Amino acid sequence: MQVEGAGHPLKLTGAARAGALCGAGCAPSGRLKGVPSRRRPLDPKPGTTRPDDGRPQAQTHTHTVTDFEAEVLPGLEPFAVAELKGVAGVQQVRVEEGAVGFRFVGNPAKLVHLRTVVAVYQTLHFAVPRPRALLGHEHLSRLREAVATLGSRQAFKSFRLSAAGSDSAVFVRLTEVLSQETGLPHVPDEGELLVRVRRAQTGAGWEVLLRLTPRPLSSRPWRVCNLAGGLNAALAAVMLRLADVREGERVFNPMCGSGTLLIEQGLVSPARLVGCDLNPAALACSLQNAQAAGLTSVELFEADATATGLESESVDVIVTDPPWGDAVGSHTGNAALYPALLGEFARVATSGGRLVLLTHELRLLERVLAAQSSWEVLQQFRVFHGGHHPHVYLLIKR
Ligand SMILES: C[S@@+](CC[C@H](N)C(=O)[O-])C[C@H]1O[C@@H](n2cnc3c(N)ncnc32)[C@H](O)[C@@H]1O
Repeated sequence: MQVEGAGHPLKLTGAARAGALCGAGCAPSGRLKGVPSRRRPLDPKPGTTRPDDGRPQAQTHTHTVTDFEAEVLPGLEPFAVAELKGVAGVQQVRVEEGAVGFRFVGNPAKLVHLRTVVAVYQTLHFAVPRPRALLGHEHLSRLREAVATLGSRQAFKSFRLSAAGSDSAVFVRLTEVLSQETGLPHVPDEGELLVRVRRAQTGAGWEVLLRLTPRPLSSRPWRVCNLAGGLNAALAAVMLRLADVREGERVFNPMCGSGTLLIEQGLVSPARLVGCDLNPAALACSLQNAQAAGLTSVELFEADATATGLESESVDVIVTDPPWGDAVGSHTGNAALYPALLGEFARVATSGGRLVLLTHELRLLERVLAAQSSWEVLQQFRVFHGGHHPHVYLLIKR
């Protein structure tokens, strides 16, 4: 399928959206039955437990209580917490900068459908004073079992160890022994199972974190085409949650690049999706990604986002990450681009329409917002993304 020339919208039609709508809600509900563990919250030894109240058990329920940690882009923690709290079995949520810890009762396969986090790790706590003690038989057995359980759900071909001082003798030895114990070769930069070793975040001891998936969750399987300046998919998912898209609404993504925002929206709920970009190569990239995601109803067209040709008041939601003037565009160009964008967005948005915008051009955007009256800022926050601290803005059209 070709992307057509300027002004010719391309409707994607055809292949069925097999599995495309399967987000967290599509995951089979946890197979493990039972009630939450009665272990004390800070018990450092999670594992398989059985109800034991002294009475005969009519039937035995086996359930696994395990500690996990979600890696999160700093600034997005509240969104990750909200998403996690919607997953049955998530308990005892603790927030730190860039990480959300929690306990989980159920099948961890449910956790790999989270959209607003970068990655999820199982956390193993070891009451040891220094990492050398992890080489002890008991701790190695525990690690081997945890890796084997993880490997029974998700095949890993190799592993890599990440720790402060990972080239020290003790970590080199731990890496060798882990390779022997798990049967996985150690591949320093590319190993699929990421094993992180660090001091316990609270209290004494050390922790080993095992990433549940070979790639971060934010590296979406639909991304078959990459472009410079491509948006982190977890951040795109957060921007869309902020936009609060309702069924049947028309969502416009000007400057769509590789299509991250359109695809993330298409995968969580049906909406009328429209994207444009000046660059035909970007449109072709969006198209490839949308097809890989199984989406069949994305409208893409080549246009300048400052003069889209869309009808006035025809879109309910606009989501966009205009150039920041470093990897894409220039600061001089942005000085003229941003006011023109805000004007065009005000023209095409319905009254009460929402605009969610991510930018690092903070002073410029503040000046542009101060000089106009169409958009009111409802929310603004900072996020750490790609070595920068851009802000996400939620605006509503007056
Ligand atoms: C930061 S990138 C968008 C990245 C996108 N969200 C993604 O995930 O790939 C900005 C995009 O804006 C496009 N662009 C720049 N100026 C434009 C303009 N005036 N009109 C339309 N598109 C423009 C560029 O071609 C580029 O694809």
